[in-house]
Amino acid sequence: MSNCVVLGAQWGDEGKGKIVDLLAKSADWVARYAGGANAGHTVKVGDTRFALHLVPTGILSSQARCLIGHGVVLDLPALFTEIDSLVKAGIKVEDRLFVASATHLVLPHHKLLEEQAEECRSDAEKIGTTMRGIGPAYADKIARRGVRAGDLLDPDRLVRSVRQAIDYWDRITNGLLTSKGCTTESVVQQLQPCVARLTPMIVDGPRLLDDAIRQGQSIVYEGAQGTLLDIDFGTYPYVTSSSTTVGGACTGLGIPPSAIGRVIGVVKAYTTRVGNGPFPTEALNDDGKRLQKGGNEFGTTTGRCRRCGWLDLVALKYAVRVNGITHVAITKLDVLDEFDEIPVCVAYDHRGERSTEVPLDGARLGEVKPVYRMMPGWKQPTAGLTDCGDLPPAAKDYVKFVCGTLGVKMLMISTGPERDETIICGQNAELVSV
Ligand code: GDP
Ligand code: IMO
Ligand code: MG
Repeated sequence: MSNCVVLGAQWGDEGKGKIVDLLAKSADWVARYAGGANAGHTVKVGDTRFALHLVPTGILSSQARCLIGHGVVLDLPALFTEIDSLVKAGIKVEDRLFVASATHLVLPHHKLLEEQAEECRSDAEKIGTTMRGIGPAYADKIARRGVRAGDLLDPDRLVRSVRQAIDYWDRITNGLLTSKGCTTESVVQQLQPCVARLTPMIVDGPRLLDDAIRQGQSIVYEGAQGTLLDIDFGTYPYVTSSSTTVGGACTGLGIPPSAIGRVIGVVKAYTTRVGNGPFPTEALNDDGKRLQKGGNEFGTTTGRCRRCGWLDLVALKYAVRVNGITHVAITKLDVLDEFDEIPVCVAYDHRGERSTEVPLDGARLGEVKPVYRMMPGWKQPTAGLTDCGDLPPAAKDYVKFVCGTLGVKMLMISTGPERDETIICGQNAELVSV
């Protein structure tokens, strides 16, 4: 299989972890290109549930090696906690996990600043971030005062770069950092135990991937979050601070667009969102609660309840367009098993005007009313199915309607959290293409 990007087509938590895990079985490399410890990618292997935040999901496939690309912002204590728990669960990490030297670090002041930023906003304006320091870490990167993984290799450079960031923010906040005990010395001291552990992992990421590509190795580029959380293409300002879309794979790993074969959009069979911001198909009724319960929609990272609603084909068409999605993997089809009818949003209505485009203006997206097409439910269990031929006709119609409207090929249909609860559509002409 050609090298592929796997990205979220909605607001995150689509089930990227499960899909990357399946693809990773035949990959030489899995390289994560964006986000940080805000992500939570869950993979269920037998009785063990792995929640990966920073380590690429490929770590669970023993033949794959993993790269954390420089598009990621890296919280080192969080990384080592995650590595320790993987090792404890019997996963070999040593010599399999690498970090691009240009990867920016999330430092203690980023979390302090994020608390302040959220506190300054009114309830309606709060973004509802994961409080993992993501926004301030990317802000320091873009403002050219970030600290990078490679800085750890040179003690003087490390002190200089930490000082630049801390001095700047301490001055801007009238000594807030100092008052909280966050000084250059304390930050450097906290980083010290990480130096020896991180040093053997630091690599020239773009160079490493270039070699792998030239050798014809197979690479999965793992995204985080989702298209509608992208800093540019998402529902700004209710977004994360990175490029979650396909371009982020190039800039966040240092690969050329020609190194990408397939673009796989992971699509949950309905929609969820964590945090604030517009969500036209949100079901603020019993249906929403049923989806939440049936889909166990609680955040992997923060444990927050995910807001739930119906599939939004307008937003998905936008995701297909901005990412050039070639294939979709539909997840959690089983969660819809019990519904009599399943609404699917096919257009937006804004004050009597109908449109099939996501409005440029985020505030306007908050005002649109979804126009639904009602799809018949199948009222039969699909949970655990592995063969497309066993899908109830109404479930097949649902999936076909989604692919047909989006004009993309179906790669997989996931019918449960386990690895083998998956229908692989590749060889099945009936559902492959539209
Ligand atoms: P990610 O962030 O996109 O990797 O998604 P999360 O891991 O945050 O959330 C997806 C959740 O759904 C996880 O708990 C998965 O174990 C679970 N999951 C994935 N695919 C399926 C599926 O087809 N059916 C069900 N019921 N659960 C699934
Ligand atoms: P995965 O990779 C779902 C959301 C937060 C918040 C907004 C900004 O598991 O799909 P941030 O902490 O990034 O500044 O928060 O983005 N968010 C996610 N929602 N899945 C994620 O990751 C998310 N990562 C961030 O809830 O609304
Ligand atoms: Mg998640």
